[in-house]
Amino acid sequence: MTGAFLSIMRANRCWTILHVSILVGLLLTLNAQSDSDCSTEIRVRRNTVYNASAGQQLWINCPVFFCNDSPPTVTWYKVEEANVPINVSGDSHIKTEWKPLNKSAGIFYLMFQNILRHDSGQYQCQSGGNMGHAITVNVYDHAEITTITQNNVRGKKGFI
Ligand SMILES: *[C@@H]1O[C@H](CO)[C@@H](O)[C@H](O)[C@H]1NC(C)=O
Ligand SMILES: *[C@@H]1O[C@H](CO)[C@@H](O)[C@H](O)[C@H]1NC(C)=O
Ligand SMILES: *[C@@H]1O[C@H](CO)[C@@H](O)[C@H](O)[C@H]1NC(C)=O
Repeated sequence: MTGAFLSIMRANRCWTILHVSILVGLLLTLNAQSDSDCSTEIRVRRNTVYNASAGQQLWINCPVFFCNDSPPTVTWYKVEEANVPINVSGDSHIKTEWKPLNKSAGIFYLMFQNILRHDSGQYQCQSGGNMGHAITVNVYDHAEITTITQNNVRGKKGFI
């Protein structure tokens, strides 16, 4: 009687151990899968536009998501007319800065110290095979903005 009971218990325990090890096996597989699915991602919103006036300081950002606590190398490019990307990291009035957010995300900034009219254009950040959406930068002269405002004021006065 007791012997039979014990062997049933033992059998139950065996089943439990088997279940647990199947579960562990599944969890390990899931973990392995999510690790291999993970890849570097650049998340720049489509049609991002920055308007700046000449002489202003402007920061544009490139959110980067990555794996395994290892931030990738990111480069900023300017899209020129010939569609040849220019590495802007070497330009003296332009600086780049990496700001870590947590162990799988960070922001790579492009900073114009004294933005110039000719900095207008499209910029893209890239890491390995990942390219962010183009970011449009429009730089206006102070004079241009003043003229538009004055014209508007004059126009209104003339109307009255
Ligand atoms: C930038 O300026 C354009 C017009 O020149 C305007 O349509 C757009 O809304 C502005 N964008 C921002 C983010 O200020
Ligand atoms: C871009 O220029 C910087 C500074 O000159 C350099 O360190 C970096 O390696 C360049 N990146 C690429 C992808 O050429
Ligand atoms: C890291 O920060 C990004 C952006 O704030 C967030 O989406 C992501 O969930 C965070 N990841 C972790 C592991 O905290």
